[in-house]
Amino acid sequence: MVETIQWTPAGVVMIDQTKLPRETVFVTCKNYEEVAEAIRSMIIRGAPAIGVAAAMGVAIGVGQASEANLDAQFEAICNTLAGTRPTAVNLFWAIDRMKRLYAGHRGKPIAEIRAVLTAEAQEIYHEDIAICKRIGAHGAGLVPDGKTVLTHCNAGALATAGYGTALGVIRAAVEAGKKIDVFADETRPFLQGARLTAWELMEDGIPTTLITDNMAGHFMKAGRIGCVVVGADRIAANGDVANKVGTYTVAVLAKENGVPFYVAAPISTLDLTLATGDLIPIEERSAAEVTHVFGVEIAPKGVGVENPAFDVTPNRYVTGIITERGVATAPFEQSLRALVGK
Ligand code: MRU
Repeated sequence: MVETIQWTPAGVVMIDQTKLPRETVFVTCKNYEEVAEAIRSMIIRGAPAIGVAAAMGVAIGVGQASEANLDAQFEAICNTLAGTRPTAVNLFWAIDRMKRLYAGHRGKPIAEIRAVLTAEAQEIYHEDIAICKRIGAHGAGLVPDGKTVLTHCNAGALATAGYGTALGVIRAAVEAGKKIDVFADETRPFLQGARLTAWELMEDGIPTTLITDNMAGHFMKAGRIGCVVVGADRIAANGDVANKVGTYTVAVLAKENGVPFYVAAPISTLDLTLATGDLIPIEERSAAEVTHVFGVEIAPKGVGVENPAFDVTPNRYVTGIITERGVATAPFEQSLRALVGK
């Protein structure tokens, strides 16, 4: 299994996801500023992986800090990391968890604070893998045997500390002996499906077919898709789901064609402070991601461009939300709160 991110004595080591699959290159972030830049530039991406990276960024930042004015330095570290990407709530969840721990250790010797925060970041990493395995265990039964699963973007080992959420469900179904194959949407403009999902599933020997995003409806209408499983960046209290742009289109097509549409995500992706998905902040990324493909300009200079990185799928399109604590179904206001309360 690929190592997405690791805490090492030399720094936080990440596989560079902007280079996959052509090159397998690892980068070492030696300070929190480099961790923040790795998140912003999508060397590491995917909601749970961003959370793990942020926690490690906080820990490495406290390692850089001096004893005098530690509170102010800690706040600056957290603010820098929190300012990288706005949509995936796991980023803020992880930083808040580190903040709570810091608050409980304020005034103690800096060496002790460093040790506690470093241990917590590693704990978040290990927990994330265990959570993905439990998501897989809850979801495997929902995947129809002998059928094709469609996924969008990359919600795999590369998007988590390991194993994946949506791809964790697929992996668990395969491990349970189901004969399934995967259709991966290429996921324009950043091509997470073509570059990352196809790569990691092929590494695992799971049969994978790459399609462009606009082909999904064609294959659903032809009865070729057994179910859809995607990840999430933030889920509102009513079950509206923010995920990679294009997910909403897939969900509408799935409902129209009677194909079950599942979202696989850890509890840390729930944001019950937001009543509906309309309140989820949507990251706008650079126009160059749309006008250029691997540095080659494909559109006329000066054309207007919009590049929202995520969209929101209303809860009515969601068949079930697969978490590490079980599967939530409509009405999501109740079912999600019940899972959180567990
Ligand atoms: O912009 P990205 O690549 O960070 O977007 C990733 C997604 O949308 C994933 O589906 C989501 O974060 C879930 S990852 C388990």
